[in-house]
This record gives sequence, C-alpha cells and structure tokens, in this order.
Amino acid sequence: MLDLYSNLHLVVRWLHVLAGITWIGHLYFFNFVNVPLQGALDDAAKKAVNPQLMPRALWWFRWGAMITFFSGLAMFVMVYFYTPGIGFGPTSYLFDIGKMTDRAMWILFGMTLGFIMWFNVWMIIWPTQKRLLTGKVPADQVAGQRKKALLTSRVNTFLSGPMLFGMLAPSHYGTMSIQALGMALLLGLIAVWWAIKISPSVGKLS
Ligand code: HEM
Repeated sequence: MLDLYSNLHLVVRWLHVLAGITWIGHLYFFNFVNVPLQGALDDAAKKAVNPQLMPRALWWFRWGAMITFFSGLAMFVMVYFYTPGIGFGPTSYLFDIGKMTDRAMWILFGMTLGFIMWFNVWMIIWPTQKRLLTGKVPADQVAGQRKKALLTSRVNTFLSGPMLFGMLAPSHYGTMSIQALGMALLLGLIAVWWAIKISPSVGKLS
C-alpha cells in the first residue's frame, strides 16, 4: 500500500477520467446521435420522447462537466503545486531550471480548452436548454435559441478532440513543440469533423 498522497492522487485521477467519459460521452450522444435522430422524428414523437430523454441526458452531461472540471483542478494542484513531504508551492513538474516544463505547457493547453468547454456547458448550453424545456422562450425565439445551443455544443465537440491530446500528452508524450501541437489540433479536429459528417447515415450502415 503506497502513501496517502499516491492513493488520493489515483482516486482523483480515476474520478476525473470517469466524469470526463460521462461528460464527453453525452456530448457525443447529443451531436452524433440525437441531432440526426431529432431530424427524423415528427412533432408528436418529439413531444413523447424529449421531455423524458432530454432532462435525464442533460443532468449527466452538466454534472459530468462539473465533476471533471473540479477533479481536474484538484489534480492540477496535486501535481504542479504540491510536493509530498515538502508542501505547497510550484513543483518541478511546473518549472525546471527556471523555465516552464513541456508537461505543464501541454496540460495548460488542455485545461484552457476544457475550461472553455465547461463554461459553454454551464453558462450557455444548459441555461438555454432549461429555458427551452420549461417553455420560457417566446415562440418566435425558439428556433434562434435552439440554434445557439446547437452551435455552442458543436464548438465543444470540435474542442474535445484537441483537448483530449492536451490531457494525455503530459504523462504519455511529454515533449511540446509546434509540430506536436499542430498534430493534436489537426487530428482532433479531423476526427470530430468526420464523426459529424457520417453521423446522419450511421443508422443506415450495417
Ligand atoms: C474541464 C477542465 C479540465 C481540467 C481542469 C483538467 C485537468 C487535468 C489535469 C491537471 C490532468 C493531469 C495532468 C498531468 O498528470 O500532468 C488531467 C489528466 C487527464 N484528463 Fe483532464 N482536465 C479537464 C477536462 C478533461 C476532460 C473533459 C476529459 C475527458 C475525458 C479529461 C480527461 C483526462 C485524462 C484521460 C487525463 C490523463 C489521465 C492519465 O493519463 O493518467 N480531462 N486533466
């Protein structure tokens, strides 16, 4: 059995990934499954399905985002601002020989994208969906509000690809360079673009 810090670190890391999967899994469900599905439903079917489906899915989505964000911040402090046996303060994972480490640059890249995504969930997507679901949006503004929620959700879906490179690279890659960052952006964006592109026809594929 390792020391308390190592055990706590593993539990926080585990919680972070578990919550992250829950959040991003629901984001992908909304973008790759639900958007094409809604286009195939008539008004009567939407009235039967959506009041049951949306509040449940949005609950896991937004609380998944909240737990991911706070467990991520806790881990940031544990790795970059705490040294077991010494205490709080910048660690050698943050600065080495007076300069920011490549590991820290990667996680700051991932965390910046993750923070934008968390902000979009809690400040734009959820408030808009809540007003739509509770019928608080005047009829002439419904289409505009739906579009706003969809566009923000799309932005988050695109950010998720590069963001995940930023999460994995600190401890599994290490070296930060313009080329590596370009690859993270390119592969991340292409993967999401492709998934959005094929999603309407996925139901017809075997
Ligand atoms: C919302 C803002 C987020 C913050 C502040 C954050 C923060 C962090 C931090 C500090 C680390 C540790 C980096 C290191 O060891 O050097 C990490 C790792 C990780 N994060 Fe996040 N994160 C966020 C979002 C996400 C999301 C949405 C996911 C989606 C699944 C995710 C998945 C991961 C994974 C898989 C790891 C690596 C675990 C490992 O290799 O052991 N994170 N994150």
